[in-house]
Amino acid sequence: MSGKVYLYPIWIRLWHITNALLCLILIISGISMHYASPEGTRIRFDLAVSMHNISGIILTFSYVIFFLGNLFTGNGFNYVIQFRGFRQRLWKQMYYYTIGVFKKEEPPYPIGSARKFNPLQQVTYAVIMYFILPVIFITGWALLFPESIVEEWLGINGFAATDFLHIAGGFGVSIFLLIHLYFATMGKKPTDHYKAMLTGYHDDESEHEPK
Ligand code: HEM
Ligand code: HEM
Repeated sequence: MSGKVYLYPIWIRLWHITNALLCLILIISGISMHYASPEGTRIRFDLAVSMHNISGIILTFSYVIFFLGNLFTGNGFNYVIQFRGFRQRLWKQMYYYTIGVFKKEEPPYPIGSARKFNPLQQVTYAVIMYFILPVIFITGWALLFPESIVEEWLGINGFAATDFLHIAGGFGVSIFLLIHLYFATMGKKPTDHYKAMLTGYHDDESEHEPK
């Protein structure tokens, strides 16, 4: 019988639910603004702008909590990638997700007291949290204060480039979210990871660690 391990402390759970809801609002309002036309929009334009700006500002503050929390608690270590042999570990995990899981094989990097993230989770969480979101914040705040954007740099229009990076980041978060929701169903039972994110506790599967 496997025991339980406390993987998601309350501050992570509160940050995560806030972050998830705000990202959903930002994606919906962002898409609505992007496809705005004189014929009309899904969400009234001024409403979409307000929703987007307010959520964007709150998301930035919630990110600061995540950043400091990871810096000052042990949680940040889960995001630090050991590059030696990482490619092989990543392939093993990809094999498991695409083939192994359907052959009912045991996961190569079971979640538990020995490890919180498998290699694929580790790299995607690190990229989304420490690269893509910061790009979105920097460009989002620049779009809030467009007078701060350089007019032209090496012949490139500063506003268009900022807007492009912002939309590319938003696209990245949307794709991440789809993959994230699917992979989160790949526990022992499809609901296991979702329950863990609500209660904080996950089955300790480390006993299945391949030798
Ligand atoms: C998950 C996060 C986010 C997503 C998916 C997202 C997505 C988008 C999209 C698709 C647009 C429309 C751009 C266009 O069509 O030109 C937009 C515009 C904008 N976003 Fe975001 N955004 C996010 C976060 C933020 C944040 C954190 C801020 C600021 C703190 C922000 C501020 C703005 C502003 C000011 C605009 C208006 C610029 C314009 O109309 O060209 N966004 N966003
Ligand atoms: C409806 C939206 C979402 C749901 C239902 C959801 C679900 C989950 C679940 C079940 C976990 C824990 C197990 C696992 O890793 O599979 C998790 C962890 C995580 N999610 Fe999400 N998620 C959502 C949105 C997001 C968004 C938008 C982001 C980032 C932009 C995000 C970033 C993370 C991170 C970084 C972790 C690991 C946190 C840690 O323990 O340090 N999630 N999510």
